[in-house]
Amino acid sequence: MADVSSPPRVLIDEDHIQARVEDLAAQISAEYHDKGEIVLVGVLKGAFIFLADLSRRLTIPRRIEFMALSSYSEGSVSGEVRLEMDLRHQIEGKHVLIVEDIIDSGQTLRYLVDLLKARSPASVKTCALVRKQREDNADAPIDYLGFEIPDVWTVGYGLDYEEQHRTLPYIGILDIAE
Ligand code: IMP
Ligand code: MG
Repeated sequence: MADVSSPPRVLIDEDHIQARVEDLAAQISAEYHDKGEIVLVGVLKGAFIFLADLSRRLTIPRRIEFMALSSYSEGSVSGEVRLEMDLRHQIEGKHVLIVEDIIDSGQTLRYLVDLLKARSPASVKTCALVRKQREDNADAPIDYLGFEIPDVWTVGYGLDYEEQHRTLPYIGILDIAE
């Protein structure tokens, strides 16, 4: 079991995260500037801090929506993707930007893109804060990416391990002895 009482080692510090979020917001604002309102779909719970920072830095009209999915039954063991909370509004004809915390196997993002594309939006793009460098997620549909990281369990800036460490201002590494 991980020792959740000791602070996780810093992988990406707060200043680097904030600078990268600023870059992503500028890039997204530039690319959507003539598209009207975009619908930001935050994936709960992990993306809530990233979405809060990113959305406040955009300079284009935007709406915030949330979905909840789970791909892990508990801890860090991979399972099936389950839709736990759907959007409350239709997205037909809208420009949708999915905001996700981390791409691990990539199955959550693939599931979500397919699900939303079937609802006839004007477009569906994706923005992920981090992607783990794994061969099986190389084809994950990521349009905007904050950081590439090694295949380690990370916490902080919205990411958790069994609900611990979500509110750390940095992204840290948790050594999980399995
Ligand atoms: P995927 O479907 O395997 O890509 O897993 C995606 C989801 O698993 C993410 O949205 C996270 O909620 C969770 N996850 C995967 N890796 C980590 C990690 O290192 N720390 C915290 N959560 C993770
Ligand atoms: Mg997530």
